[in-house]
Formats: sequence, C-alpha cells, structure tokens
Amino acid sequence: MAVLKIIRAGNPVLRQVARPVSVDELPDMAVLADDMIETLMDARGVGLAAPQVGQAVRMLVYFVPASRSETGEGTPLTVLCNPSLTPLSNETEEAFEGCLSLPGLTGKVPRFRRIGVKALLLSGETFEREVSGFHARVLQHENDHLDGKLYVDRMRSLGSFGFSDEIQEALNSAET
Ligand code: NI
Repeated sequence: MAVLKIIRAGNPVLRQVARPVSVDELPDMAVLADDMIETLMDARGVGLAAPQVGQAVRMLVYFVPASRSETGEGTPLTVLCNPSLTPLSNETEEAFEGCLSLPGLTGKVPRFRRIGVKALLLSGETFEREVSGFHARVLQHENDHLDGKLYVDRMRSLGSFGFSDEIQEALNSAET
C-alpha cells in the first residue's frame, strides 16, 4: 500500500471522462483501490475518485461517518467501479462541499437528495442500493470526478465560494 499524490484542479486528468473498468482488470483495480484508501485516510477525506490520483478509470472509494449518516449507522469504506446514479426524485438540497483536489476551498452545491446507486464491486458482484442526504451527496461528488466535473461546475453562484477557514458555516463540510 502507498499514499498516492492527489492531483489538483488544473491538471487535465481531472477534466477527462474516465473509462469504465472491465471485469478482467478487477485484480489490478484492487491494488489501486488499496492505495486510494490509504491516500484517503492520510488526507482525512471521506471520498476519493481514481482521477484524483491521476488514473482516468471509473472507480471511487468512500465512507460515511456515523455522525453524518441519516440512519446514524454510517457506511464502511466501500469501493465502487462503474457507478451509475439515478435521482429518485427531483428534490435537491444545497450544502457546502470541499474537494481534496481544491484544497482549502469550499462552496455550496445543489445535489439530489435521494439517489439509486448501481455499481460493480471488486468481488465482481453487483452493488445496488438507495441512499439519501450526505451519503447521496458524497456519491454524486465522486461520480462527477469520473465525468471530468468538479463541484464548482455545479454551483448555482460563486457567492458562497471561498476558503473554508474563512467561512464559518462551512466548518463541517467534508473533503471529497
Ligand atoms: Ni472531490
């Protein structure tokens, strides 16, 4: 396992549409996923997408701390390949987000409140569930990285954009 370098906004890899993972390469992806998990823990984030470590493949790692979970139970570290997200209603909510590729910065981003998630697990099994709130937000943020999008692209206004240590309301935003 190794801590990888997290690339920052401006690096063209963050603007690429990442390619899907094939079932044959799942063993290789498991090696990359281990390094991404170590990198995520080192950076004290909650989510990391492969393009953020310079690999334009559709894989992300994340977890939901119990304190941020609507059920109070949290979600353990999870690795998803080729995720596909479907909004379950038109309802959106705005909240501050941070990104490990935009260190120190934050901004208010609208996201769908409830989504369905379907993905390929490293075991080759299919992952399918419905999530809401912060969990849904993290997955939408990470999935955007796979399409070359950053949270700033989703902001309705740059009025809430700034350095997280200058914005009191943003102190709770999680780095993804
Ligand atoms: Ni991010």
